[in-house]
Amino acid sequence: MWEQQLTGLLLLCLFVTVLGENTNYNWNGPGVSQPTLAGPADACLTDTAACGCCLMKKQMNRMEEYFNMSLSDLQEGLSRAQNMITNIRTSRSAFSVALTNVRRCFGPFREGKIVDYKVIFLNLDNRYNPDDGMFIAPRSGVYVLAVTVYSDAGAPGSSLHACANLRINDVDVANLNDTNMQDQEDSATAVLAQQLSAGDRVYIYLPIDCSLCGDGSHYNTFTGFLLYATD
Ligand SMILES: *[C@@H]1O[C@H](CO)[C@@H](O)[C@H](O)[C@H]1NC(C)=O
Ligand SMILES: *[C@@H]1O[C@H](CO)[C@@H](O)[C@H](O)[C@H]1NC(C)=O
Repeated sequence: MWEQQLTGLLLLCLFVTVLGENTNYNWNGPGVSQPTLAGPADACLTDTAACGCCLMKKQMNRMEEYFNMSLSDLQEGLSRAQNMITNIRTSRSAFSVALTNVRRCFGPFREGKIVDYKVIFLNLDNRYNPDDGMFIAPRSGVYVLAVTVYSDAGAPGSSLHACANLRINDVDVANLNDTNMQDQEDSATAVLAQQLSAGDRVYIYLPIDCSLCGDGSHYNTFTGFLLYATD
């Protein structure tokens, strides 16, 4: 576009310049000198067409510089935005799992154990490992973590121990505990936002005596997702 317009302008300039030169031809014939015309300072007086064309060309050049600058600003902004989008895309992280699809109780055990949720609703990049029950944060950021525990005492009047701890790197960050003999079933939920570093391990720990029971209704769930990255 610009090149075409510029070429057109240049041609126009040449044309006008040639015409301008023609007017300086000596019509009195060769050898007869004509009064010398003015120097560059008076160019606009003697050759207004060529002069106007030159001014126009200067103006066009300035405009082109300006547009070149704006264009490179835009291109820079665009590539920054594209980088950000790529960054957001590659930083996606989410998992959501449930204890079981069939009637099953996890616990009680004589020692604490990590709960291995076997039903995978969502597991981007396999950051949750169903073999050991651990989610490993792929990158630093603020993550939302949610756990719901549910248990069934088996019979009315039996003691119920619906309890589990949400842990980050082996440290309890939220304990859920519904221990009683008043009703047969109970559940508890914790939802929190936590700053995690890449490589941090998040899991649900089942303390001694606690047990989680469920079936295809998915009463026991564990979910985590990256809200926003901080690296
Ligand atoms: C504008 O950019 C084009 C393409 O990069 C370049 O050829 C041209 O010389 C630039 N014009 C000016 C006035 O800087
Ligand atoms: C749950 O609460 C009961 C009653 O306060 C307590 O005896 C029990 O130790 C707690 N269990 C866990 C795992 O924190």
